[in-house]
Amino acid sequence: MFNKLKRWKPQNSSSSLRDRIESVKKAGVPSHIAIIMDGNGRWAKKRAMPRVAGHHEGMKVVRKITRLANELGIGALTLYAFSTENWKRPKMEVDYLMQLPEEFLGSFLPELIEENVRVEMMGYQENLPVHTLRAINKASEETKNNTGLVLNFALNYGSRAEILDAVRHVLKDCQSGIMDANSLNEEAFSSYLMSSKLADPDLLIRTSGEIRLSNFMLWQLAYTEFWFTDVLWPDFNEEHLLNAVETFQNRQRRFGGIQGS
Ligand code: IPE
Ligand code: IPE
Ligand code: MG
Repeated sequence: MFNKLKRWKPQNSSSSLRDRIESVKKAGVPSHIAIIMDGNGRWAKKRAMPRVAGHHEGMKVVRKITRLANELGIGALTLYAFSTENWKRPKMEVDYLMQLPEEFLGSFLPELIEENVRVEMMGYQENLPVHTLRAINKASEETKNNTGLVLNFALNYGSRAEILDAVRHVLKDCQSGIMDANSLNEEAFSSYLMSSKLADPDLLIRTSGEIRLSNFMLWQLAYTEFWFTDVLWPDFNEEHLLNAVETFQNRQRRFGGIQGS
């Protein structure tokens, strides 16, 4: 038991990092964190390396951050890994990105299983290569009964397409009498989205200095707290995640009300 916990503690964790983790946990963590993991290409370019080297380094960060999120007791971590617009990139880069789930899960899945993490995917499955989908489906299947952190990969995900599909689905259900248009409220509409099993994110993080959503969870982020950093995703570490969560803990969420009401 001790070994197991030790292995999952953030690597190279100094005692000050450990203290911070404990105090962040005490102050109450967000239930759902969503991250737009951006800046892999620029990270590689700065080092005169091919863009894919940045993606590979970024994958290592996913491990680190998943471990910490799990340790903090966060309910769900949604990671934007590939957008519906990312198909515009050179084939070589897209092919590389599409093999990353196999590589990542090939080595990380046993730990995820052991640590009670549930792997899920949110996105359009039909256009994904068979080998990519196979790796994701295997991980989802083997972790489906886990009750800890939900590690939700947004892969071939696009929010506008998701919303349009939900609208089409609602219309169909209205026509067939399953749904009554007058009873369609926000909660019911949310149930038609790909994120239907998850609560809306409490905290959104975007790395690399870009201040935009890039078609990510447009509906779900309506009242989410945003945290942006110039740090490129491959340089993102435990300290940065703790900074984001601590900032979140000091925000006042009013949801349109007034403080203290
Ligand atoms: C994010 O890094 C990863 C994906 C979008 C797949 P980028 O590849 O967008 O890196 P930059 O933004 O070009 O630096
Ligand atoms: C958003 O990043 C998508 C992912 C992180 C997977 P992009 O790099 O594709 O976004 P833009 O093109 O800069 O808006
Ligand atoms: Mg980018």
